[in-house]
Amino acid sequence: MIEKRKNEHIEICLGRNTKAHHNHWDDIDLVHRALPEVDFDNIDLSTELFGVELKAPIIISAMTGGTELGKRINENLAIAAEKLGIGMGVGSQRPYLVDRSLGETYSIVKEHRVPLLLGNIGAPQLIDQKRSPGVTRKQLEKLMIMLDADILAVHLNFLQEAVQPEGDMRAEGILSAISSLSKSFPVIVKETGAGISRGMALKLKRAGVMGIDVGGMGGTSFAAVEKYRAEARGDRRKAELGEIFWDWGIPTPASVLEASVGIPVIATGGIRNGLDAAKALSLGASAVGIAGELLKPATESPEAVIEKLEGIIHQLKVAMFLVGARNVYTMKNTRVIVHGRLRDWFEQVEV
Ligand SMILES: Cc1cc2nc3c(=O)[nH]c(=O)nc-3n(C[C@H](O)[C@H](O)[C@H](O)COP(=O)(O)O)c2cc1C
Repeated sequence: MIEKRKNEHIEICLGRNTKAHHNHWDDIDLVHRALPEVDFDNIDLSTELFGVELKAPIIISAMTGGTELGKRINENLAIAAEKLGIGMGVGSQRPYLVDRSLGETYSIVKEHRVPLLLGNIGAPQLIDQKRSPGVTRKQLEKLMIMLDADILAVHLNFLQEAVQPEGDMRAEGILSAISSLSKSFPVIVKETGAGISRGMALKLKRAGVMGIDVGGMGGTSFAAVEKYRAEARGDRRKAELGEIFWDWGIPTPASVLEASVGIPVIATGGIRNGLDAAKALSLGASAVGIAGELLKPATESPEAVIEKLEGIIHQLKVAMFLVGARNVYTMKNTRVIVHGRLRDWFEQVEV
């Protein structure tokens, strides 16, 4: 059942329009520096994230596992992550807890030396839901061990749960579950398309998480994904809900500002190319996360993923050259001009 849902998500993301109607990275311009005063070949893209050295500030965001297609995707992504020296997350490992025969669809990534590997579990699963008990500490340990994961990413997806026909909507007590989890495991929290606000980020920091992946609005919309699933089932009320909440959330660039509370911030949500990535770094993100843009190449071959990511890395380097940034850290001082709808957000963000 869960496995079937994971494949449906992939099919929908590949075949239908699931993007937010506006991508707020388009509302940012970086200010050109006519004399970069840095040699292109000397620009250093490497960065340290959670104590690990990455060759570029990029994480392949969690997408899949639990099915044969998911296994192939995870393997193609892991090969690319190893080759390019970047981070990678697997999709929700919940299906494995239901059916232990699915382990390999995730653990395949272990066969490749991914420098920073993230396990994944949904926040709703940390507590008892109507139809399923909360995961135990032992089960979570198992999820980490099966991957040799560096970090456990707990994903927040209540927008999706609300639109999904079979959604888990109990939410009370999750923050304290995250807090106790963080005492036993290295944990980051990631949203999945609706962003994280200042207040939330401060609470998560206090709860002891190591970092925040803002997973903001602007790219893949899970309200959109669930709308198509609801339509296919003839569930008109949920389909309408998906339509209405299609663009719900905090735009990723605004969420990067709000969630900058002194722990690393990963800017995921609507990153399409290296220029978007450069804009994210200029706002203070430690790295970017990319999911949707990598899905199609990931169904094809490792070479297709590498080709796509090498393009993104090159574009990022060109943007850094044109603003005269020698390395990822100095990108933070880059001047930006903010337009349109994002400007409204920036005028009202809590920082
Ligand atoms: C097909 C697909 C499946 C996903 N599954 C998961 C998941 O299992 N766990 C998770 O934390 N995020 C999941 N995500 C969310 C992504 O990690 C990411 O936060 C979101 O798609 C926004 O990034 P994007 O705009 O680059 O797609 C999934 C995304 C896609 C496209």
